[in-house]
Amino acid sequence: MDVHDPRPPGDSGLVVRDLAVSYGPVLALRGVSLDVPRGSVVAVLGGNGAGKSTLLRAVSGTLRFHRGGITAGEVGFGGTRLSGAATSAVVARGVVQVPEGRRVFARMTVEENLRAGALGAPDRRSAAEARESVLALFPVLAERAGQRAGLLSGGEQQMLAIGRALMAGPRMLLLDEPTLGLAPMMAARIADTVREINARGTTVLLVEQNAAMALSLASHAYVLEVGEVVLSGPAAELAASDEVRRRYLGIEDPVPVVPGAAGSPVAARPALARWSA
Ligand SMILES: Nc1ncnc2c1ncn2[C@@H]1O[C@H](COP(=O)(O)OP(=O)(O)O)[C@@H](O)[C@H]1O
Ligand SMILES: [Mg+2]
Repeated sequence: MDVHDPRPPGDSGLVVRDLAVSYGPVLALRGVSLDVPRGSVVAVLGGNGAGKSTLLRAVSGTLRFHRGGITAGEVGFGGTRLSGAATSAVVARGVVQVPEGRRVFARMTVEENLRAGALGAPDRRSAAEARESVLALFPVLAERAGQRAGLLSGGEQQMLAIGRALMAGPRMLLLDEPTLGLAPMMAARIADTVREINARGTTVLLVEQNAAMALSLASHAYVLEVGEVVLSGPAAELAASDEVRRRYLGIEDPVPVVPGAAGSPVAARPALARWSA
C-alpha cells in the first residue's frame, strides 16, 4: 500500500469544494468535496450514472460541451481557481483529461493522434520530449505509428488516448474508466502504466467502476452515489470496509459456518462475484 504523503495546503494539488453540477434541470453532483494531493493517485469509485464523468468534466472545463455547468462550489489546482476557466486554460495549467470510451481519431494515424495531443504542449522542445517518453511508455505506439488508430485493439486505443494526453506534458491526468471493456490482462497493463505515469511525477485522478483495480493504485478513494460522496478515506481502509467489499468488490462477508450435508462444517469463503475484469 502506498503511504500517503500529506503536504502543506500551500502545495496543494487539486481541491474540489462543495461542488454542484447540473445539466439543465438535471442535478448531477451536489456538495462534492475532494482532494488530490500533488504526486498522488486518488480514485473515485461509483456505478453507472453516479456522476464520475461529470466530476472530471467539471475539473477539465468541458462541462459546457455537454450542456452542463457548475452551479455551486469551486475547483482549484496548485493554489489557483480552475472553475470557470476555459478548457484550453485548464490544459495550459497542466490538467489534462482522458475522456471515457478511449476516443481516438480513428481515421488518423497513431502518429497524427499523438501530434494532435502535442497542441497542448508548452513548446516544441517539450513536445519532442513528451513524444519520446510516450513512446518509451508504449512501445507498441512506435511500432504502429503509421497505422490508422481505428485499426488498433481496444487496449492499444486506450494506450493511444493516454499517450495523446501525455503529449501535453500534464502535471495532472484525469482518467475516466481507462479499463472499461478491456480484457483482464490488458486492464492490468493499463494499471501498470498508470502507476508508471504517477512514478514519473504526474498526479492522477482516476475514475473507475473497477474498484479492485482502482483501490490497488490509489492512496485515497472516494465513493460517489447519485452525485454525492458517500464514503471516502485511505484506499486500504476502503478496500477493507464491509460496505465497499459488498457493493463495489462483490465480496460477500463470510457466512457463519453451517453444517454440511455429511454433518461436516462448511465454511463459505468470500468469493469475487460482481467484479470481473
Ligand atoms: N449531457 C448530459 N445531459 C443530461 N444529463 C446528463 C448528461 N451527462 C450525464 N448526465 C446525467 O448526470 C448523471 C451523472 O452522469 P455521469 O457523470 O456520466 O455518471 P458516471 O460517469 O458516473 O456514469 C446521470 O444521471 C446522467 O444521466
Ligand atoms: Mg462516466
